[in-house]
Amino acid sequence: MKVIRQVHEENYSIYNGDCMEVLPTLDDNSIDLIVNSPPFAGLYNYSSSNKDFSNCDSKEQFLEQYEYLVKECARVTKPGRINAIHVMEIINQKGSNWDFPHEVVKIHEKYGFEYKNRITIWKEPLKVRMRTMVMSLMHKFIVEDSTNCFTASPDYVLIFKKKGDNQVPVIHPFGLKNYAGAVPILPNILTAFNNANNTTFNEAQLWQHLNNEYYDSKEPNNKLSHYIWQRYASSTWDDIRIDEVLKYKNTKDEDDEKHVHPLQLDVIDRIVELYSNPNEVVLTPFMGVGSEVFSPVSNGRKAIGIELKESYFKQSILNIKGAANRFKKEEQNKLF
Ligand SMILES: C[S@@+](CC[C@H](N)C(=O)[O-])C[C@H]1O[C@@H](n2cnc3c(N)ncnc32)[C@H](O)[C@@H]1O
Repeated sequence: MKVIRQVHEENYSIYNGDCMEVLPTLDDNSIDLIVNSPPFAGLYNYSSSNKDFSNCDSKEQFLEQYEYLVKECARVTKPGRINAIHVMEIINQKGSNWDFPHEVVKIHEKYGFEYKNRITIWKEPLKVRMRTMVMSLMHKFIVEDSTNCFTASPDYVLIFKKKGDNQVPVIHPFGLKNYAGAVPILPNILTAFNNANNTTFNEAQLWQHLNNEYYDSKEPNNKLSHYIWQRYASSTWDDIRIDEVLKYKNTKDEDDEKHVHPLQLDVIDRIVELYSNPNEVVLTPFMGVGSEVFSPVSNGRKAIGIELKESYFKQSILNIKGAANRFKKEEQNKLF
């Protein structure tokens, strides 16, 4: 195995190398949860390495390589456990759309996963336009010919469950307590709560009240947990904090076209909380600057991350060091 560098700490192991060389060294049925954003072919090239998934010459070549990856992910995931894959549809230069999420579903099904659901992550259209420069979002076409206008693509998280019985249930004995996102309370809940309790809370006040009442509660059915679950159970996650990501700006090599876009920590935090127990092992084969290691470690899990590009790997070392102090208020400004 040609790993350039590896770092092992009590709660995580990270490798600077090709995931296709590192994954075969992991034991069968040893991983409790996989979370990752694959580097899609045709969207953006992360490096010039021929081992980089984003450097495949064609969709077909990419999908062939991706199949090997999924086969390995299926082998290492414990039966009955979850793989969560963050994807988007890919729009080519000519403006046509490749339904990449559908390809990912087909491949996971082929290798022993059940496809469970697709979470939509809402994205603000103007930001999508600025980031991708996609023509179909331009207002000028509304004026000229709106058959050329289409909505901004969201991100998706595809949830797969490996076939077989889950041997260790993922439990939340006192429900969910920590909310990852911008807006914890839905408007209809606020109104219903105020009507039922004869209160006049605004959203922030109700959130504070629920935390005061139930954060330390040993009651499994408490309202705080119910309200968090109502948000997480939504098919659209519309309050993910888009800019709440790990540091990445120093990682751009001279010949890189763009920066890597790290996955938002709210997304990973939700998946980690929902689908793993404390101390279980979360794996990402595409670690980037460390987000899918940082989130589980800061949430009391263990993690394994693999990243091909050296500059991202170096940044991940720095980022993950902050995981232990993530929830200490005085440390927060240093992390993002
Ligand atoms: C979409 S980015 C992941 C970003 C990550 N989620 C984060 O938050 O930083 C995909 C990553 O896969 C890496 N990559 C591409 N091919 C790889 C390979 N064969 N082995 C390991 N990493 C690879 C790229 O360098 C890139 O960092």
